[in-house]
Amino acid sequence: MQHLNAGRLVTMAAAGLALMGGVALADPDPTAELVIEGELHLTTRAPSNPAITPNLPTLYSGWLFRDPTTREMQMDDFENPGLLAVEAGAAAWATPEGTGGQSCADCHGDPESMEGLRAVLPRVNEHGQLWSMENYINNCRTERMGAEALGWNSREMREMTALISFQSRGMPVNVAIDGPAAPFWEQGREMYYTRFGQLEMSCATCHEESAGQYIRSDHLSQGQINGFPTYRLKDQAIVGIHGRFVGCIRDTRAETFRAGSDEFRALELYVASRGNGLSVEGVSVRH
Ligand code: HEC
Ligand code: HEC
Repeated sequence: MQHLNAGRLVTMAAAGLALMGGVALADPDPTAELVIEGELHLTTRAPSNPAITPNLPTLYSGWLFRDPTTREMQMDDFENPGLLAVEAGAAAWATPEGTGGQSCADCHGDPESMEGLRAVLPRVNEHGQLWSMENYINNCRTERMGAEALGWNSREMREMTALISFQSRGMPVNVAIDGPAAPFWEQGREMYYTRFGQLEMSCATCHEESAGQYIRSDHLSQGQINGFPTYRLKDQAIVGIHGRFVGCIRDTRAETFRAGSDEFRALELYVASRGNGLSVEGVSVRH
């Protein structure tokens, strides 16, 4: 996608995202099953909740849209390069930092204590703020450890979110969208349908109206975030949720929001809710 040239995109937009290469595939591979190491079965297809995704008949993980080689990498923890980020995160977890001289492990014990967290974030904290995982991590660093905040999209942050997300692998995404979360969710939904940039495309233009179709060699998924952070073969790196949002918005030739901004956290909540019921895959592999 990053290498898609602008002229091509404009043509595509003008043609209402005409198909690039044959048959319309509304649905991804109907037979593929995501089973890690032959034993952990992940849910890659889930019923759509009409209150959240009235325009999607079924929810599909992005895994289903990838080629068989990429899919297989994710089924084997030795082949999945994202696991190296999980390991780096585990090393950082046990390393004392900051003026308090403590590590994450000193207070939280094993990383397993974070089980379940990925599935419910972002969520509204006790002060009424919508917090993503990165906010929780930095809050412990600055308020409890006397350490510097990590850059939202820094390698260290992506590795720590990989470690924490991995503890929830296989659990269903289940973010709350009611109560105090409702206004943030509405804001995120609004953004999802807003047309950005010179190409006047919204997230929905690609990931809802055109999911299943091809943009060149790219099989368009529903743009779910249940697999994040994800190892992108193209970048040879682990990519965070807001990093991905930045890339997609830039592709419409629009000004983008900052990683960690209020706007992106609201969008994250909304996009997460569109995947409620799919398994947390962190750390997934994408092309
Ligand atoms: C001095 C003790 C201390 C240290 C060190 C510490 N934390 Fe925390 N952390 C807490 C407390 C207390 C809470 C709030 C209560 C809770 O959820 O456990 C918390 C909450 C969290 C949460 C939210 C958990 C939830 O279920 O809501 C995350 C994520 C987290 N910490 C990550 C980290 C990471 C990553 C590190 C290391 C970089 C770290 N913490 C270091 C004490 C600490
Ligand atoms: C011009 C079309 C286009 C637009 C507009 C667009 N994306 Fe994407 N997006 C892509 C393509 C192509 C990919 C890579 C293939 C795929 O997974 O669909 C992608 C991938 C993603 C992924 C990764 C999915 C996964 O499983 O790894 C997410 C998340 C995502 N987009 C979210 C968004 C959001 C949120 C917006 C709106 C801010 C947006 N996209 C706008 C084309 C677009």
